[in-house]
Amino acid sequence: MTPILRPATLHDIPALREMLVATWHATYDATLGVEKVNAIAASWHSPEKLSAECDAALAEPEANAMLVAEAGGRIIGTASAHFLPDSFLELARLYILPECQRTGLGKALLAASIARFPKARTARLEVEPRNAGAIAFYARQGFFAVGGGKACGGDVKASVEHLIMEADLPLLALRPAEDRDAQDLFGLLTLCFAEYPGCYTDPHDDMPDLVRPGHWPERAKNGQKLGGEFLVLEDATGRVCACVAVDFPAPGIAELHRLYVRPDCRRRGIAEALVRRIERIAEAAAAGRVILWSDTRFIGAHRLYARLGYVQGRERRPLGDISNSEEFDFTKKL
Ligand SMILES: CC(C)(COP(=O)(O)OP(=O)(O)OC[C@H]1O[C@@H](n2cnc3c(N)ncnc32)[C@H](O)[C@@H]1OP(=O)(O)O)[C@@H](O)C(=O)NCCC(=O)NCCS
Repeated sequence: MTPILRPATLHDIPALREMLVATWHATYDATLGVEKVNAIAASWHSPEKLSAECDAALAEPEANAMLVAEAGGRIIGTASAHFLPDSFLELARLYILPECQRTGLGKALLAASIARFPKARTARLEVEPRNAGAIAFYARQGFFAVGGGKACGGDVKASVEHLIMEADLPLLALRPAEDRDAQDLFGLLTLCFAEYPGCYTDPHDDMPDLVRPGHWPERAKNGQKLGGEFLVLEDATGRVCACVAVDFPAPGIAELHRLYVRPDCRRRGIAEALVRRIERIAEAAAAGRVILWSDTRFIGAHRLYARLGYVQGRERRPLGDISNSEEFDFTKKL
């Protein structure tokens, strides 16, 4: 039975609490101990607290969301979110009943709660550091660990360690490119280049990296491996609809490459989220600067780079390719 995802109402609170307590014991008894889980359930999942949160979500849907997943009259999952304008979308309490996990419901509830806040640009959440399953799940959805601390949930008595994870929005479930993506990648670039007269894809001479994209990190310059990552985004049919890559040509410098979004997938913030993903990878590698070269004709992309803080340099380099390309350089200090 396909679950219905909907806002929680006060009638749901007893069933929601029961589901939360059962899922908490299944998730945390082994690491936190039964006593602590009972203490947390009494505090964080008290009927009063849940009812107050439910009221707040119903009264201020532009700032709060409390969703439930219902199947066959049972509450089998929940997700909450709080939007702090000019700051984060805080995601809280994403729980799926154990027997309903790994069926796509967590992903659906996460997407549904984020979709309620289209203006949010960054999502943030806290996760118990030993909750390896949840951490793997969030990483798969595009979240990065950005820090940690104590007192998850803000209640000192029931405090637990937490890891803070963030993701740029929209959520992009990116994966490393594989060699089998070559055909899709050439298709993607051909569609993008077709918007610019005189711009062609030439797999033979111009783009050896696209022939074996799975080998991106092994590329070398002057005998030094360039490293980095080539990431692809799939559409609902599994075709590659966007890509981006990064490598490290010199110490402290990350170079962004191959930013392409298929025309039918534009205007959803995908390119911006891809650039920000590369910046996070660069920061994690202790790079202080991201550089890139962009074809002089790609004016739309130049506007995006400027908006994201990239400064165009004075250089203009000819590539000597079949498209007679010349490129501008852009830099951003991180
Ligand atoms: C973590 C949780 C919310 C994930 O929800 P779910 O419904 O089980 O996950 P989904 O079926 O939507 O999985 C989505 C993706 O994440 C991956 N994933 C989910 N759980 C995973 C795990 N334990 N290990 C590795 N990957 C996992 C899935 O493989 C899937 O990948 P795909 O999109 O490539 O197919 C759910 O398992 C849960 O409630 N766990 C216990 C409570 C909890 O830890 N909550 C988080 C508190 S911060």
